[in-house]
Amino acid sequence: MTIKRREFLLFLGATAGSVALNSCHQKFVMPFGDGANSAKNAENIPGSINFKPVKGPMPLPTSSAVAETGQLIQISTASAQQQAQAYSTYEVADDLVLPEGFTYDIIAAWGDKVGDSHFGYNNDYLSFVETGKDEGLLTVNFEYISAKPWIQTYQKVIGKSLPFAKLEKAITPAGKSGINVFGAPEKDPIKKMVKQVAKAALIDVGIGVISVIRNDDGKWVRTNSPADRRITGISGLEDGRYLKSTGPGVAVFNKKGKGYLDKLGDKIIGTFNNCAGGTTPWGTVFSAEENIQNFVPEPVFADGTSFDPGRKNFYIDAEEIGGLGNVFGLAGNKYGWMVEVDPANPKDYGTKHTWLGRYRHEAVGIRVVAGKPLAFYSGCDRRSGHIYKFVSKNAVKDPKDRANSKLLTDGMLYAAKFNADGTGKWIALKADTPVNPDLPSIHAGGIINLPLRPAGGFFKVEKDAEAAAFKQKFKTLDDLYEGTANEKQGAILIDAHYAASAAGATCTARPEDTEIAPDGSLYITFTSGSASDSDGGPDLRIFQGKDGKPYEYGWIMRLIEDGNEPSAMSFQWEMFAAGGEPETGGLGFANPDNLVIDKGGNLWMVNDMSSDKLNGAVPAGRIDKDGKPISQSSLRGLYGNNAIWFLPASGPSVGEAFLFGIGPMECETTGPFFTEDEKTLFLAVQHPGEVNGMRKDMAAENRNFAMKTIDGKEFMQTRKVPAGSNWPGKKVDSPPLPAVVAIRRVNSQRLT
Ligand code: FEO
Ligand code: CA
Ligand code: CA
Ligand code: CA
Repeated sequence: MTIKRREFLLFLGATAGSVALNSCHQKFVMPFGDGANSAKNAENIPGSINFKPVKGPMPLPTSSAVAETGQLIQISTASAQQQAQAYSTYEVADDLVLPEGFTYDIIAAWGDKVGDSHFGYNNDYLSFVETGKDEGLLTVNFEYISAKPWIQTYQKVIGKSLPFAKLEKAITPAGKSGINVFGAPEKDPIKKMVKQVAKAALIDVGIGVISVIRNDDGKWVRTNSPADRRITGISGLEDGRYLKSTGPGVAVFNKKGKGYLDKLGDKIIGTFNNCAGGTTPWGTVFSAEENIQNFVPEPVFADGTSFDPGRKNFYIDAEEIGGLGNVFGLAGNKYGWMVEVDPANPKDYGTKHTWLGRYRHEAVGIRVVAGKPLAFYSGCDRRSGHIYKFVSKNAVKDPKDRANSKLLTDGMLYAAKFNADGTGKWIALKADTPVNPDLPSIHAGGIINLPLRPAGGFFKVEKDAEAAAFKQKFKTLDDLYEGTANEKQGAILIDAHYAASAAGATCTARPEDTEIAPDGSLYITFTSGSASDSDGGPDLRIFQGKDGKPYEYGWIMRLIEDGNEPSAMSFQWEMFAAGGEPETGGLGFANPDNLVIDKGGNLWMVNDMSSDKLNGAVPAGRIDKDGKPISQSSLRGLYGNNAIWFLPASGPSVGEAFLFGIGPMECETTGPFFTEDEKTLFLAVQHPGEVNGMRKDMAAENRNFAMKTIDGKEFMQTRKVPAGSNWPGKKVDSPPLPAVVAIRRVNSQRLT
């Protein structure tokens, strides 16, 4: 294995070891180093791992299995035949599967009462801020609506009926492009129905705060304190609970410019698509607004003002619901931000700090060091999205001071340029930064999107000569944006993705989480290196598979600022881990997503393969009916359900991934967050039953998979796959519910 892993390094873009990452006196972890498999005991609990990994569908060097003889075998030393026998059948469970000695309790599920509202849909980031011993406030993000299970179970769970069927029928003639009801008269019957459904959906997204305590038996339960509340997608619309905003973007919100003005100035209606986030040492929570392009128009004019709400139509069908901002005339430029919430302040409904930029924020890595400026890292989860860093103008005095929020109102936003040699630099997103875009030809998909002038929005660049001409025409970002100096800075922040692309920031491989390790280094999960026709893909010099080709299964990168300084303008990076099958040097997962790092510096990662790819059959020989090889995307069926992984960052098992848990059917697990004592891991189970909805009569089907042993020998597996989900009720025909759980050891000891 070791040699293969070394070979694998060679296709990880920058060759590991070419740069002295230990320059800041930290032991840098090599992606697939020696020493793996060196410390296993008889129960297959490796020396530095204190749980027995669960058995997934794929043989892994870190797994064990029961052989035909009834003997427990270690896959790392088993023959190909033994592996094939031990994995010839597999049954996927519609449950959260954890190692022996671990259990989980449901804390809250969709529809449960929260303040004057209810627990939202598709819970994602979790933040636990302790308010005392064994008590605290859990802040929960609610990202989006999975139309199929939501429509199917809404009445049963929420107790209200909505005109789904009528509305779907009324919209059918318009197809996927949906309908624009923004300008329609209020009494229009279709508009009325859209309003009803869009309002219900927007109430189901946003943020929630719930108070919890730990009982003597180690179980967490809710207490319903006055701080318990919802901030929804329409907070402010009818209740005056507007969100606030700070920074140069506000000058644009107040401006009568080229585009649509909602006349609310610095006040903002709601927050939505709240994906991952971060927690500050001063007790506030940051929530990332991610795929807002599904709800409101994302592109803006050169002055940063919004396109008309009619540019994003409302649509609904059995699979999707979107354009929710249309009927309420929401201004697109007010979404796609980082929202700061003080969970302990019942009157706080959130503040959007525009200095952190507007793009498809997935998460935020928060670095707070006394005496230094703040550094807030985040990524834009689109194919070709960039990595960003905000650096505050002023330094932190006391990391725990609530006044640190003020530091987010002045500073600079930077975007990362990665070099293939393992170095990189930060590019300031300001008016005098030169225009210098990367050429389309270096990217997966062969395109790059750049700001379209004078019309606004963006255009697709497919020829290198076009990118060169763009650079000739526009010298600095100043030439691309309009307004007074402050308004122009606001417009750049609002249009951060396209501004960063114009400035030459590296297009990356869908960054999901950004997390700071105890030593100050930054881990970034890049979930997928494939391209799309509309957004393009990553720089193939950095994010490449074998032979320089796009690579679907993702990576985890480690980035260290030069001198380990939060405000450094250059850095070094290296791939820490890669997805993929063990035979090719991957660690046995695909599409890494959220991360949490424990006090020992070890990574806990959840992965997110698209729901429609989970457990998709893979025929013998991995070729389809027409004799064509199965695509990387469809080979994700091999990996089973989305899962929870443990990746040691030190000790003998560095460079390995251990399977800690497996999610229920058609879900992803999100938002892992440890309590201070690391005796509890809070986890959100998002979108169970996303594809097939509620599992009916315990329906399941047997599918065949052309699996491989860790040494690459193909064998067939028959896998029993439940259709849809009944989690967490787990009874016949229980509705699948997004829910938050607390994971703990039965004996109440630390998890880590
Ligand atoms: Fe909402 Fe990028 O996951
Ligand atoms: Ca995510
Ligand atoms: Ca995280
Ligand atoms: Ca996701």
